[in-house]
Amino acid sequence: MKTSSSNSVEVVLGVTGSIAAYKACELASLLVKQGLRVTPVLTRSAQELAGAASFEAITGQRAITGLFEPLQAPEIAHIAVARRASLFLIAPATANILAKAAHGIADDWLSTTLLATEAPILFAPAMNTNMYNHPATQANIATLQERGCHFVGPDSGMLACKTEGIGRLIAPQTILEAALPLLDARRDFEGKRVVITSGGTREPIDPVRFIGNRSSGKMGRALAMEALLRKAQVTVISGPSETPLPYGVQAHQVETASEMAEWVQRIATEADVFISAAAVADYRAEQVSPDKIKRAGAPLTLRLVENPDILAQIGTHKLPGQIIVGYAAETSELIGNAKAKLSAKQADFILANQVNAPDSGFGTETLRSCILDAQGGVQELGLLDKADVARVLFDRIAAQCPA
Ligand code: PMT
Repeated sequence: MKTSSSNSVEVVLGVTGSIAAYKACELASLLVKQGLRVTPVLTRSAQELAGAASFEAITGQRAITGLFEPLQAPEIAHIAVARRASLFLIAPATANILAKAAHGIADDWLSTTLLATEAPILFAPAMNTNMYNHPATQANIATLQERGCHFVGPDSGMLACKTEGIGRLIAPQTILEAALPLLDARRDFEGKRVVITSGGTREPIDPVRFIGNRSSGKMGRALAMEALLRKAQVTVISGPSETPLPYGVQAHQVETASEMAEWVQRIATEADVFISAAAVADYRAEQVSPDKIKRAGAPLTLRLVENPDILAQIGTHKLPGQIIVGYAAETSELIGNAKAKLSAKQADFILANQVNAPDSGFGTETLRSCILDAQGGVQELGLLDKADVARVLFDRIAAQCPA
């Protein structure tokens, strides 16, 4: 999400006394890179584990470390910040801060301000497994969730106390992805189910080789992130991809076009919006060799047969109120080819993109594209980041979505 460069959107990053406190530096950096103003707050125990100076250097903001800030710094007095902040992000969140927040204890700047703010609160717990599983901690988490607080993590794995189990601070990137929708006021897809296909399929030739394509999954990720920011319920069916999907999506990993088709058939009927962004193979090997094909000193002929056309199956059986969006990957005749696909697949929109340019197509950060609609409209988008392509596309879908 790109916020205004004026840093008008402020996130209070509350750091408490977990050994994972040092990871909050990385989180602070990720937040700053989103153009957010980050006000770091370190509890007394956090300062034993992570230096305030690091947070000040990363955020460019004065770290709040006292119990109650001196009156001569009213801009960081807890009531002022409580009113101003768009999000309170407590990472790492110890059992102690969860207990204080759940029971209304206000004995330092952070716990006091958590009571004073009306901004959303997101906790990223980090603690020993037994502490996390303790009924008291679980009860505090349940209480805070009932009051509308949000939680991300913890993760499972090796903990600082050399035990294995749940309680690790979840990755800072994941925390960021959980925070961004809380900072985005848009809710125009709230309650809508969006199903997206992403990545490229792989059609096996033998146990070692396959027919594939260069899809990285970046476009699919951008679409999923945009839908999450707009509060949709997002399911992604993805072929193998080097790009992780954002936190909060329901993901189904597949390999072949047939597997993708199966998943789509299974869940597309529930979708309010179906977006077919995956690079789905049109053909597969008629015969898949059970053993690795050996060099035979002679040409090898592969007989390919057609795969199911997933988009066409959905488009021609569209349910009332559903919005169907296809993509067209073209190397020439962009509009003409895309128009043909729009009518053949009976989609509501086709995102036609040039895929043979160094800055547009498979694996790129940007796309040169246009949106064709079923009424004959063509909206030129020019060269945009894939995140912005997703934003414009969802704006078009929103305009057509039944309320
Ligand atoms: O993943 P990235 O690296 O970010 O690259 C993004 C992208 C270039 C893959 C993406 O922008 C894109 O163009 N995706 C569609 C690729 C594709 O298969 O286009 P197509 O013109 O061959 O297919 C037309 C439409 O039919 C697409 O919506 C496709 O998903 C769908 N299709 C195609 C074949 C098939 N068997 N079933 C399908 O549903």
